[in-house]
Amino acid sequence: MRNHDWTIDQNWQAYTPEQHQVWKTLYERQTKLLPGRACDEFVAGMRELPIAADRIPNFEELSEVLMRHTGWQVVAVPGLVPDEVFFEHLANRRFPSGQFIRGAHQLDYLQEPDVFHDVFGHVPLLMHPVIADYIQAYGAGGMRAKELGVLDLLARVYWYTVEFGLVEQRDGLRLYGAGIVSSYTESIFALDDSSPNRVRFDLERVMRTRYRIDDFQETYFVIRNLEELLSLAHTDFAPLYDRVQGQSELEPGMILPQDSVLSRGTSHYHHPTLRKNNGRLV
Ligand SMILES: [Fe+2]
Repeated sequence: MRNHDWTIDQNWQAYTPEQHQVWKTLYERQTKLLPGRACDEFVAGMRELPIAADRIPNFEELSEVLMRHTGWQVVAVPGLVPDEVFFEHLANRRFPSGQFIRGAHQLDYLQEPDVFHDVFGHVPLLMHPVIADYIQAYGAGGMRAKELGVLDLLARVYWYTVEFGLVEQRDGLRLYGAGIVSSYTESIFALDDSSPNRVRFDLERVMRTRYRIDDFQETYFVIRNLEELLSLAHTDFAPLYDRVQGQSELEPGMILPQDSVLSRGTSHYHHPTLRKNNGRLV
C-alpha cells in the first residue's frame, strides 16, 4: 500500500537471499574500486553507517544514524516519484530511496533508481553537514522552480553536482556524485577516460548545460571542495533564472571560451566518428 506521500514500507524481511546477493555483488565490486576515487567525505560517511556487504541495508537503521548526525531519514518509495513529491521529501530531510533492487542479470542497467543507487550512492554524503543542507535546499528550491516554470534549469544543477559531480582533493580529482559512485563503469570513465571534459563548476554555466540521461556524461563539473555547495544552498536562484533564460542552451560536450577547463576531452566515446587513423584523433 502506498501512502499519500508515495512512501511504502521497506518490508525488509521480504528481500530474498538472491536480492541480498545482488547487493553483495554490487557492494563488493564498488568497494574495491572506490579507494582513491571516491572523495574522503563519502568514505567517512560510509564507514559510520550500517551499510555492509552481506545484506541490503535496513532503512530504519540507516535513519537512526543519519538522524543523530544530520537530521535526515531514508524513506522507501516504489521507484521514481513525481517532482513535487520528491522535493517535498527533500525539503523535509527525508531521502526517498527505491525499495527494489535490480536483477542479477542487469547489474549495470538501471531504468529507475534502486536501493543500490539510492543508498550506496546518496546516503553516505547525507552524513556530511554541507551536503545535508544542500540537498534540503534543493528540495525547497525545487518547489519554487516548479512554480516559476524553470525546473529544467535547477535540475541541471542537481544533475551536475549531486548525481555527477567531481571534487578536487589534495591528490587529484575524486568522485562525489551518486550516479558515478554507484556505477562501476562510470567510476572509471569519469576519472580515467580521455573522452569527457572536466570543467570548473560555474552555476550559471551549469544551468545552461543539457545533460545525458542514458549514457556517461560528456562533461563533468568540478568543485574545489564540498563547502562550495554551501554557498549554493544560500543563493537566491530567482535572478539567475532570469539571466539564464535569456541565453542559449549548451550541448553536453560544448566548451566555452570563458570555461576554466581542467582537462579537455577527446569526445571519442560519444562521437566515434572523431576516432580515425587507428584511434588517433584527426
Ligand atoms: Fe540519484
